[in-house]
Amino acid sequence: MIVNIAIDGPAGAGKSTIAKRVANELSYVYVDTGAMYRAMAYYFLEKGISPEVTEQIENACQDADITIDYRNGEQQVFLNGQNVTGFLRTEEVGNMASATSANPKVREKLVALQQKMGAEKSVVMDGRDIGTKVLPDALVKIYLTASARTRAMRRYRELNANGVPCDLDQIEKDIIERDRRDMSRSISPLRQAEDAVLVDSSEMTIDEVVDRILSIYKEKV
Ligand code: DC
Repeated sequence: MIVNIAIDGPAGAGKSTIAKRVANELSYVYVDTGAMYRAMAYYFLEKGISPEVTEQIENACQDADITIDYRNGEQQVFLNGQNVTGFLRTEEVGNMASATSANPKVREKLVALQQKMGAEKSVVMDGRDIGTKVLPDALVKIYLTASARTRAMRRYRELNANGVPCDLDQIEKDIIERDRRDMSRSISPLRQAEDAVLVDSSEMTIDEVVDRILSIYKEKV
């Protein structure tokens, strides 16, 4: 039987870490939908397209073929046959993805790919609209969040650990701005699905969040 788990929430809530762990525990496939929007954004940046020029975004979108594969259990994103996974986690690509993911043509294309993946295999899929739009029949829906300060602090520590100079207040400002954009766009804005369980990870460890989701899952299967 195919079972899907949807995990939505704002940037920096820990969705990918948690979703990956849950997928591992259940031997399900982890699908990172943000990486698909990032791959599309990477393509627009490479082409020098501005997010405001809708027509250029929509034309370029038609030429961007995004496919997903797995290497040693890790999701790899291919853009027109090239593995771009290593180029996607920068702030520049993230901000471009936040802006261009509001475009209906971009969403249409990626949602179709995500729905196909959910129909073929049991997946733990994370994103912004998984419970509300992509997998409305998912057995388990989680809305994972944390305070903006907590999320900024996590990002700050991650950047510091990688030797990237950064400013905590600026990161928090960027996070609040990204939330505003993701929640206020007209198409598939980030919001908690009516049947999703709210999990606030501000005061929780990763293990606690994973255990909480697994116990919600076990109640349903
Ligand atoms: O989760 P992330 O930071 O990798 O996502 C990058 C951007 O992509 C995010 O700002 C919003 C967008 N996104 C989306 O609109 N819908 C999704 N299902 C996943 C991501």
